[in-house]
Amino acid sequence: MSRVVTGYRPTGRLHLGHLLGNISSMQQMQADHECFFFIADWHALTTDYEDTASIAANTRDLVLDWIAAGIDPFRATIYKQSDVPEVAELALYLSMITPLGWLERNPTYKEQLRDLSATPQRSGGAPRQITTHGFLGYPVLQCADIAIVGGELVPVGEDQIPHLELTREIVRRFNRLYGHRFPEPQPILTSTPRVMGPDGRRMSKSFGNAIWLSDPIERITKAVASAVTDPAKIKRDDPGDPEVCTVYHWWRQFFPEAAPDVADRCRTGHLGCVQDKEALAAALSARLEPFRERRAELEAKAGIADEVLSAGRAKIRPIVGETIEAVRDAMHLPATRRPT
Ligand code: TRP
Repeated sequence: MSRVVTGYRPTGRLHLGHLLGNISSMQQMQADHECFFFIADWHALTTDYEDTASIAANTRDLVLDWIAAGIDPFRATIYKQSDVPEVAELALYLSMITPLGWLERNPTYKEQLRDLSATPQRSGGAPRQITTHGFLGYPVLQCADIAIVGGELVPVGEDQIPHLELTREIVRRFNRLYGHRFPEPQPILTSTPRVMGPDGRRMSKSFGNAIWLSDPIERITKAVASAVTDPAKIKRDDPGDPEVCTVYHWWRQFFPEAAPDVADRCRTGHLGCVQDKEALAAALSARLEPFRERRAELEAKAGIADEVLSAGRAKIRPIVGETIEAVRDAMHLPATRRPT
């Protein structure tokens, strides 16, 4: 049975961009793989080190969102990165063998540096300064996350492909230097491309354009109403071009069976944008209704997220302990006797 591992940064609640791609593949994999799903709270520090106060609450929110979205803590091991100090230890060793050039060339690094430097960490704060050791070393920590549990398959979005490639390179280098210890993990890419936000950019918390899975219908309706449609379609019965319309993009992604009819009515001038948006918002809201219900039930049980995380921590301790002892042995470092 292959080992599957993936992590989420606790930057806020889950949004529509997570639903189709990653969450649905995590859900499928938990049925017949050994799954490790963790909250990457140390990774959140790489960009939000000035504003750490919300990380703990975001972590709990994410655990509840996962479970409400169908991740089952009895099938998958759910834990948080900062409960596993062995990850930090392994990241330190990996940092010794990772050439700077590999990290500096990483396109995700360059892209994030550009996008995030423009937004302050706190509202009204100074511009973000993320030209740090930790941020550059992000993929090294990510490699440690994967290697510590011997991860073989990694469900991620396409923006993470360069990170996964780096993980594979680092693992190869480790194996060559110290003997074969780690599998080379493969990304599992779901077929869903990026989901757009109402502004036509990639849906992301950092762009402030996310539609949260927990949003009530009013908020979904408002967000959809603000979406960019074909600028050439002005009147209700003007023919439109669905290919340049964000609402149509959502139809195609979330309701592929309804999309051809929507496209047809738009092209022939039989569908006004206002009506189209109302229909899509209603459909999305109905789709998210079971999630909202489960989420509310979980919220009513105080302490449930912490319970799940501590059960996950207990399950993972012997696994990571074994890995780190093997690594120390391979690197001729003395063994430790650590509590399990
Ligand atoms: N880098 C991932 C992201 O930004 C989060 C992450 C951290 C991760 N460690 C990981 C994903 C290990 C997969 C495996 O979304």
